[in-house]
Amino acid sequence: MYILIASAMPSMEAAFGTRRLERLLLCCLLLHGSLALSGNFWHITDLHWDPTYDQSKDPNKVCDSSGSKPAAQAGPFGDHACDSPWNLISSSIHAMKDILPDPDFIVWTGDDTPHVPNQNLGEEAVLRIIGNLTNIIREVFPTTKVYSALGNHDYHPKSQLPGGPSYMYNQTAKMWKHWLESESHITFTKGGYYTETLLNQTGFRMLVLNTNLYYDRNLLTENDEDPAGQFSWADGVLTKAASNNEKVYIIGHVPPGMFEKKRSKPWYRPQFNKRYLEMIQKHHAVIKGQFFGHHHTDAFRMFYDTNDSPISTMFLSPGVTPWKTTLPGVKNGANNPGIRIFEYDNTTLLVQDVVTYYLNLTRANIGRDRWEKEYRLTESFQVADASPASMQQVLDAIAGDDCRLQQYYRFNSVNFDLSECDRGCRVDHVCATREVDYQRYERCLATEAAASGLGGSVLLSILVGIACVLFVLAQQ
Ligand SMILES: *[C@@H]1O[C@H](CO)[C@@H](O)[C@H](O)[C@H]1NC(C)=O
Ligand SMILES: *[C@@H]1O[C@H](CO)[C@@H](O)[C@H](O)[C@H]1NC(C)=O
Ligand SMILES: *[C@@H]1O[C@H](CO)[C@@H](O)[C@H](O)[C@H]1NC(C)=O
Ligand SMILES: *[C@@H]1O[C@H](CO)[C@@H](O)[C@H](O)[C@H]1NC(C)=O
Ligand SMILES: *[C@@H]1O[C@H](CO)[C@@H](O)[C@H](O)[C@H]1NC(C)=O
Ligand SMILES: [Zn+2]
Ligand SMILES: [Zn+2]
Repeated sequence: MYILIASAMPSMEAAFGTRRLERLLLCCLLLHGSLALSGNFWHITDLHWDPTYDQSKDPNKVCDSSGSKPAAQAGPFGDHACDSPWNLISSSIHAMKDILPDPDFIVWTGDDTPHVPNQNLGEEAVLRIIGNLTNIIREVFPTTKVYSALGNHDYHPKSQLPGGPSYMYNQTAKMWKHWLESESHITFTKGGYYTETLLNQTGFRMLVLNTNLYYDRNLLTENDEDPAGQFSWADGVLTKAASNNEKVYIIGHVPPGMFEKKRSKPWYRPQFNKRYLEMIQKHHAVIKGQFFGHHHTDAFRMFYDTNDSPISTMFLSPGVTPWKTTLPGVKNGANNPGIRIFEYDNTTLLVQDVVTYYLNLTRANIGRDRWEKEYRLTESFQVADASPASMQQVLDAIAGDDCRLQQYYRFNSVNFDLSECDRGCRVDHVCATREVDYQRYERCLATEAAASGLGGSVLLSILVGIACVLFVLAQQ
């Protein structure tokens, strides 16, 4: 029941939060010293800077990224019709510094440029924007290691990332040279991916993928069985990791599976989705976490073995841009700006907790930019950690308890969409979370829709829905 004003109390939550105290006590009682093994890192994604943003202009001309929609609430920190103004970019990076100034590392999963037609950008404009964001992160976190993955908007023309050498891969590698080891530089210029030992420590590995190669809007890789040889390369890396007893984190931009806000909307071409899933199933023993972006929403994806036991989780972190998606069929698809800390066991790489901070854009525009803690996973969903087994419990709770579903739904848009998640919404979200495989997803839609139909009268379900909205509101 406490909301922390992060910028007013820097680092206080990390050091003295209630949950930490509880855990400290528990640790002392049960597992003496285990708290000391906890590490943390920032994950930021989808900053989408729109350099044209100018709030003083006529609502129809505030930003290029609004297309034909007016930016009616344009303020200093943005508008839901627009991508991020520089003020918001700067505010988010400085909020990270205030809240957790010395993370073990930063994960940055791409999409730096605005949602505008290709002719408004060009290679040099895209590179300049990537460069500006790289610079501010380096200025604010000069000594922190950053693992950086390309997004589909970090290329010109957008989404057309090639499965081979390119000028833009070369130029981006140059901008990121402080973060890349020499070996990484070589694979990055060949296909936009790399791997390194995590923080140069034996036994831990980071795998940075260029999954834009699998995006169904990418016309260059459509007929390629294994674009840039990335799958066979990753298979080699993971096989070697197993024989070297390493534990691995995977990061990337475009995730496999379906979009939870639009029924049957995949991102990968089917053959690539299947191959990604097979990679995780084959190597799950060494994979301790997957961290992706692209959705701009707060979501997760479960992976199972052939016995349907949970073996891995992909965390989809919310974006910084508040831009409302123009994807046809998505209702109310905007979000508040979000940034996120993962806490992990630095001996096993087990993800222990996920803490999301956000900016209430409306409030920021009329007052100032106060980044607040939105929620802590273990606290809000009453689970022990963020392991695959615990995330399965979270999913089961969302699927089986309307109030949990409502809570999840509110977090999904980072406190932007406070409306009720109805029966159809429940099925979309539950099936997208549970089934990365396209065929299994379609079967899930059918089964879950039938299950929802058995849940009593429409009136009753509306009343439960209203009660849950009130329940979730009362918890704030
Ligand atoms: C794990 O975290 C503890 C405390 O934060 C730190 O002292 C230790 O060096 C870390 N170990 C590794 C392997 O990073
Ligand atoms: C972005 O980078 C360019 C140089 O590439 C520089 O001229 C410009 O001032 C930068 N803009 C911001 C907002 O940092
Ligand atoms: C990328 O840079 C390398 C040198 O680092 C150069 O040999 C190659 O021609 C460049 N490729 C492109 C497509 O610019
Ligand atoms: C990484 O570790 C190796 C030895 O394990 C060492 O030679 C190298 O200098 C280290 N690199 C960095 C960047 O710390
Ligand atoms: C965001 O701020 C506005 C304006 O102060 C307020 O009306 C709204 O309830 C806030 N939203 C949340 C989720 O706190
Ligand atoms: Zn994006
Ligand atoms: Zn994207």
